Amino acid sequence: MRIRTLYFCYCLSVVGVLLALPATAATPDPWLDHNGRLPARSDHAGPLFKLSHDYPSGLPAPHMPWRTAINNAPIGTSNAAAYTQALKDAVARDMVALLLDEGDWDAGRRGWYNDPWLGAQREAVHGMLVGLERVDDDLFPKSGLTKPFTTYVITYYNRIGAQTLGAIWRDPHNPQLNGGATQYAEGSVTVKLAFTTAGPAEWPAMRGALSWPMMMTANATTGQFERPTLGKAWLMQVDIVVKDTQSAPQTGWVFATLVYDRNTRPGSRGVWDQMVPLGAQWGNDPRVDSAANPGAPLQETWINPSAPLYATETLGWGGRLSGPNDHGVNDISVADVARGGQRVLLRRAGNSSCLSCHGASQWNAANPAKGMASFMMPLVPGDAKAGAPYMNSPAPGSNEWLRWFQNRAGDVAMDTGSMAGDYDLALTFRVLPAWHEAKSGKKHALQKLDAGGVAVQRE
Ligand code: HEC
Repeated sequence: MRIRTLYFCYCLSVVGVLLALPATAATPDPWLDHNGRLPARSDHAGPLFKLSHDYPSGLPAPHMPWRTAINNAPIGTSNAAAYTQALKDAVARDMVALLLDEGDWDAGRRGWYNDPWLGAQREAVHGMLVGLERVDDDLFPKSGLTKPFTTYVITYYNRIGAQTLGAIWRDPHNPQLNGGATQYAEGSVTVKLAFTTAGPAEWPAMRGALSWPMMMTANATTGQFERPTLGKAWLMQVDIVVKDTQSAPQTGWVFATLVYDRNTRPGSRGVWDQMVPLGAQWGNDPRVDSAANPGAPLQETWINPSAPLYATETLGWGGRLSGPNDHGVNDISVADVARGGQRVLLRRAGNSSCLSCHGASQWNAANPAKGMASFMMPLVPGDAKAGAPYMNSPAPGSNEWLRWFQNRAGDVAMDTGSMAGDYDLALTFRVLPAWHEAKSGKKHALQKLDAGGVAVQRE
């Protein structure tokens, strides 16, 4: 009898273990390095991606050479080139190490950090995430792109910025979003690298560009979308953004971007020297009516007059800064009120920019399944199918449209009832949705740029 009972108990505990095991295995690890799909050793002998997440805290204000580069004055169109150059110089040593000397790269030792919760989305070699799954070739008519491409991206935060990641994710299962936890300190710098699967054979603009091997799950250039395959992607764009309320008092941020330029000669830093500024943006120019006057000069965007042609093909609304990786140009559908609401299709409309898109970073804790209360680009709320397959856009320049083109401080949310994300979209568009997905077991609505049932033509 005793033995039977014991046996019975043993059985139960085995069942218990069997039941518990899959559940344990399925609990996602917030600090997962990558998706585990490894290249064959014979194809790739180099190191694999390690997530850098030993976030620091309590750091003093850093040295900010970009401020001194403009004599501690506000940034403007006349000094933005100097400012952008100082930003580029400030990260140069580390970025050269990351880009050109892979074997020696130790992010944490150099003070660069990544976001949690994205491991399942990261490929194994460099920790890259799919940025845009498909960018159509007709988006770049002047620079000879012959195939669509996919972009792969990775983001690194400097020590100052990583303190914010530490504050939010102290308990990775229970993010802290209140009490200013999402706000970045002065001198926070975030760098985002964007690679394209269109190489020199499909896009002359990429001749001589740096390429990285990656385990790709999507490649619109080759048409390969199934099992992970080791492929190459070329470095197209490097974003460098900085929290700097002294230089940019209205938004608190300067968004700068570098793009690969095959016509610039490499110097001692190789391809890094060929990453030239496309421009910088520190406000949305809310008072410049680019709908009435598309060529109106901007005061809060600077575009490098000698930027390569391909990178200027996708500038945002009225020429506001947006790069080839940024989805700032779209075919949009607008209801023409003057003609009884008849729909007009505006092809290749610049409907976004760095700061207008990033200004939509916010999180509604009461509705985490949605998260961001407004879409990132001007969109008429409500009937998601109206205008399909294009974005149902408010008329360019209308009051509704201008909601996206205001200058707000980083702690002021675009919509009331939401927590402001301080212009960080990685947090509200990628990381919080991934965390919520892991927690709820349900697919999150925001994981693609065509969120909310809106088919974005250029995806
Ligand atoms: C139409 C929307 C859109 C535009 C325009 C845009 N971005 Fe982003 N950006 C995103 C999204 C979404 C993410 C987060 C997901 C990812 O990294 O793919 C992001 C991430 C980033 C990051 C990583 C950290 C963070 O703040 O989220 C940086 C840095 C960045 N973008 C810089 C820029 C710069 C510089 C420009 C303009 C040249 C720009 N972005 C234009 C949508 C946009």
